[in-house]
Amino acid sequence: MKPELRDIVEPGSEEAELLARLDMDRLPRHVAVIMDGNGRWAAQRRRPRVFGHRQGLISVREVVETSARLGVGVLTLYAFSRENWKRPPREIETLMGLLVEYLRGEVKTLEENDIRFQAIGRPGDLPLPVQEELERATTSTRDNQGMIFNVALSYGSRTEIVDAANRLLARREAGELSGPITEDSFADELYTAGQPDPDLVIRTSGELRLSNFLLWQAAYAELHVTPTLWPDFRKRHLFAAIADFQGRDRRYGGLSEETS
Ligand code: FPP
Repeated sequence: MKPELRDIVEPGSEEAELLARLDMDRLPRHVAVIMDGNGRWAAQRRRPRVFGHRQGLISVREVVETSARLGVGVLTLYAFSRENWKRPPREIETLMGLLVEYLRGEVKTLEENDIRFQAIGRPGDLPLPVQEELERATTSTRDNQGMIFNVALSYGSRTEIVDAANRLLARREAGELSGPITEDSFADELYTAGQPDPDLVIRTSGELRLSNFLLWQAAYAELHVTPTLWPDFRKRHLFAAIADFQGRDRRYGGLSEETS
């Protein structure tokens, strides 16, 4: 066990057992998470939806730190979609406030764990104070060499793809680009340029949808859907998702090793 993993699990616990079963040489390079179920978690407790979002921050902290210590290369969390702007203003305000609270409180932990933070999507749509906090966290973690932590904000995958196509068109018109567009040159225009594609997409709360999340990048991702609601998601759920991923036969449209 890597020394830094010792501090994240209680020896002899269920978590330690799950962790011991993971193959550390075959970790997903990029884990992407659709954090869902905050509202339902709160409703089950007869509390307002925002109570679920607040509790969801605990899961965010745990998943970020655990992923970094495990040695995952990239973690992407879907925090706010372009469609989420349709939610009531008070809920949006609370979510923005939580984001600021997280960033202010967590930069030190990001530093300690050598995590490079960045926002993907259209963070320019967010209120200015949130943008400033995002900028601060991005700048202060810019030189970190460990896990990349993407937070998808005002994110929509179709928008991302259309923006990429438009940028390529503009570059062609400016004479910067010649020849056909390739999958690689297209991927270089996405928010995740230079990062490995997600190997594992986790969705909490049992819904079987991608919800406009990383549609291009997740082309060959393994999907793990858990009924656990996001505020209840803890390291053991992450370990279980990775164990599920490691049990899959990834064929990329070819034949499995056993049958070829
Ligand atoms: C989905 O639950 C969750 C969200 C729309 C927001 C997720 C945001 C956080 C956990 C806080 C901020 C995040 C970071 C990265 C600091 P839902 O409200 O759609 O739940 P429901 O489907 O049960 O209604």
